[in-house]
Amino acid sequence: MNTKFLSLIIVALSLTCLGIYLFVSAPPPLDLNVSKVNKSYSTENAFKIIAKLNDDTRTFYTKEIVGKGMASGLKFHEDWQKSNVEAGPLPALFLRGIAQYIEKSAVPMGLYLGSDFPIVQANLFEGVQAEKFKEIKKDKKPKFFYDTDTDRHIGMFPDFAGAQACVTCHNEHKDSPKKNWKLNDMMGATTWSYPTDSISTDELLAMISIYKNGVKNTYTSYITEVNGFKSTIKPNVGNNWPSQGYNIPSWNTLSDTIDLMTSKALMTSILNK
Ligand code: HEC
Repeated sequence: MNTKFLSLIIVALSLTCLGIYLFVSAPPPLDLNVSKVNKSYSTENAFKIIAKLNDDTRTFYTKEIVGKGMASGLKFHEDWQKSNVEAGPLPALFLRGIAQYIEKSAVPMGLYLGSDFPIVQANLFEGVQAEKFKEIKKDKKPKFFYDTDTDRHIGMFPDFAGAQACVTCHNEHKDSPKKNWKLNDMMGATTWSYPTDSISTDELLAMISIYKNGVKNTYTSYITEVNGFKSTIKPNVGNNWPSQGYNIPSWNTLSDTIDLMTSKALMTSILNK
């Protein structure tokens, strides 16, 4: 699916390139290699594209895997990777898994989920990001700026309590410094960072691809954990969903669904810059 999708982008970009090429100047030879398409994006637009993909993916994971899963008897925990804990990753930990995967890669993109009232102190915004976070709390709009503390370009996107589960779990958590979160409150912000202020098409495709690989890596670690469950009954891993019972979808089932859901918006945003 991933390669099919990338080929689709390459074909679309190539056709656009061919159109422009033939229209502006026609002499042969034609070179339709995508890396020669010198379409560059502002890092701000790239952040918007990747943040939308992340939002859709995370919301889907939270609702269909964690939300429906808990109703079907699946367990999710912050310490899901510890050998004595037989559970899946909570949404924030799912995001952390993706962030750590990206951090280890050659793509210089950073991803961080922070807050002003975090359960975990390491998630507390500091410096210029804490200031910008206050502004976002007022107007609820994403902020794009240069962070001199880290020498990186930043895109900060508000993270809302979109489901009662967010509110209940945070209010009841023993380490939560705030116990009166309400539905639709802004609970935090997803922060993306990148060293340059504009990027090439190849760089954008690399950002998308590393993000998707991060999702795959984190999800397949969860499946590996499930296969090693000793004291908990193993859920069925395959084509079925938690909404249908004690199941979790295989990676292929999950990624096909996420790709179908996200491809159109992704393709449109890539082509329209
Ligand atoms: C079942 C419990 C649970 C649910 C449901 C849950 N969270 Fe969390 N959330 C946590 C825990 C635990 C952490 C800290 C994880 C860590 O960083 O180790 C966390 C971390 C966060 C953070 C980073 C700041 C912090 O508190 O450390 C944000 C922002 C956040 N969650 C927002 C949300 C939103 C929005 C939702 C709903 C879409 C949600 N959470 C659902 C338990 C939960």
